[in-house]
Amino acid sequence: MAMAEPLNPSSRSGTEADPERPQPQRADQLRPTGFSRLGPERPRAPGPLSEAEWPSPDPAASSTAVRHARAAAPAVDLSRYLDASATSPPAPEVLAAMADQAAAAWANPSSLHGPGLVAAELLERSRIRLAGALGTEPGQIVFCSGGSEAIHLALLGSAALMQPGRLLVSAVEHPATLAAAAQLQRQGWQLEILPVDRLGLVDPQLLAERLAPPTRLVSLIWGQSEVGSLQPIARLGALCRQAGVRLHVDAVQVLGHLPLNLAQLPVDLLSGTAHKLQGPRGVGALALAPGVELAPLIGGGSQEGGRRGGTEPVLLAHGFAAALDLATERLAAAAGQDPLAQLRNELWQRLSPLEGLRLSGPVPDGSGQRLPHHLSLLVSSHDGRPLSGRAMVQALARRGWAVSSGSACSSASGAGAAAGASPILLAMGYSPLEARSGLRLSLGPWLQPQDLEPFAADLDTARRELQAALT
Ligand SMILES: Cc1ncc(COP(=O)(O)O)c(C=O)c1O
Repeated sequence: MAMAEPLNPSSRSGTEADPERPQPQRADQLRPTGFSRLGPERPRAPGPLSEAEWPSPDPAASSTAVRHARAAAPAVDLSRYLDASATSPPAPEVLAAMADQAAAAWANPSSLHGPGLVAAELLERSRIRLAGALGTEPGQIVFCSGGSEAIHLALLGSAALMQPGRLLVSAVEHPATLAAAAQLQRQGWQLEILPVDRLGLVDPQLLAERLAPPTRLVSLIWGQSEVGSLQPIARLGALCRQAGVRLHVDAVQVLGHLPLNLAQLPVDLLSGTAHKLQGPRGVGALALAPGVELAPLIGGGSQEGGRRGGTEPVLLAHGFAAALDLATERLAAAAGQDPLAQLRNELWQRLSPLEGLRLSGPVPDGSGQRLPHHLSLLVSSHDGRPLSGRAMVQALARRGWAVSSGSACSSASGAGAAAGASPILLAMGYSPLEARSGLRLSLGPWLQPQDLEPFAADLDTARRELQAALT
């Protein structure tokens, strides 16, 4: 696999190497761990960092920076924000980490001067941190603008180096995957949509059967954003490996909520985005397994190892790394279990006895089939007539709650979506009317157990309100 030369600005910008120029360290030579998430990463003179220059963990500085970030942040009440799967508020730690670097790491990381080197260094540190958290090598991380771009790069960038064949995707993919798949269809690829069961899960046996030629590419959503289903990726990936078929996994909803080690997963490409895990909006990453080659979708520069042209968003990458570190630490402190599962389970216990509510997707019971921070419901009248999920969202919004009727992408689609049914619920076998009655609650670390206490009563009142309007 052609490894990125991330810290050589000459190769990154496609210009001749300057022998006079102080050479920064390559990403794989930088010390991968041992500096604080919030450590004082100060502007520095060009040249490799000496050991003494590496910021050491400084909890006092960290907590001061976080306090400042909290103080500077507008007083937004997050105690009723249950829409983490749409996006999540940036963590104070992330804001503090970004603020720490904003004045220093502004330059173009491909530039052949000191400020450029400072930016390049921060970018490569972020890459190292991301790679460490994902269980891969820094040269296998491609920063990009978010999940949608990562997915397009994975599919279109892979396909560009292949003969057209068959692409398999599940029936519950994110619209970004479907859009990339439609582009491939226009390029002569066959698209086959694998059905899912009532829980939104793909049948491994069916996948195994469909992996025969001309299948060359598979793309699967790991954690389904609307109904929370977790595909058994290790099992499905093993089948793809056996068949020699490349697998891309959309891990946008999983990142930060499940421990993830790409080195131990039979997955070739994995997409993630920062804003779902309290990082900044506008930055994502595609992680590549060793040996996986791609054609860039955006040319013009040799940034990101030639896989994605364009000046890198250094500060956003830094925020992404800070957010992922935070989430990884939270998981590690709880033996790999997202502490939000407990909060989510308690919420379900309160909601499940209520009239007119049913679960969609897998049961939140710790069996590992559902995203740990996620709950999805179907709402109906007392006599079983489906109620509008969108109307429920609005009724709850009037009570200050932020929830969603499905994925944010379909919620934003305007009148068509208001009239339409969720393609995800339809694919799971629900009727068109039921498929309009979805409600999604997705939790984040900003929530305290007591925040959720009033929710059940408000949901019940909102549902009764809509029920009354039916008759
Ligand atoms: C499962 C999934 N994949 C991809 C995306 C797209 O990510 P982004 O918004 O960063 O482009 C989303 C966002 O909602 C998602 O939930």
